[in-house]
Amino acid sequence: IMKIGIGNDHAAVDMKNEISEYLKEKGYEVVNYGTDSNESCDYPVYGEKVGEAVAHGDVDLGILICGTGVGISLAANIRAVVCSEPYTAKLSRQHNNTNILAFGARVIGIETAKMIVDEWLNAEFMGGKHERRVNMLMDIEKRKIHGDK
Ligand code: RB5
Repeated sequence: IMKIGIGNDHAAVDMKNEISEYLKEKGYEVVNYGTDSNESCDYPVYGEKVGEAVAHGDVDLGILICGTGVGISLAANIRAVVCSEPYTAKLSRQHNNTNILAFGARVIGIETAKMIVDEWLNAEFMGGKHERRVNMLMDIEKRKIHGDK
């Protein structure tokens, strides 16, 4: 059973709950990293929590929602993608092996969000030449952390 970590800021509590229910109905295990309050909060806190959970293998994949999906995805990077339509969601997994999906509760409606979630979860990484490119992305991040050229 696949575990999905979910996180959001104050702009996306309702959408988080709806997507969470939707995923549970489909048989996924959902781990909620908050926030569950509508009071203004800082999205980097929740983006980092889910990013860490994915990186450490506490969950298999992550879903992040804020007003636009942008801020919260930046906090979780490196393999988080912000999507407003299903084509990019699907290809981001097939080609880029993204492990975090982000979208904006103030940008798209709930039905589009569900379609994006479905396409992303049902797609599989294709490997091959795409694996080489994803490894190159990971190497860029390592060079940044270790500071060597
Ligand atoms: C909060 O007002 C808003 O900035 C946040 O939800 C998100 O859209 C940031 O990227």
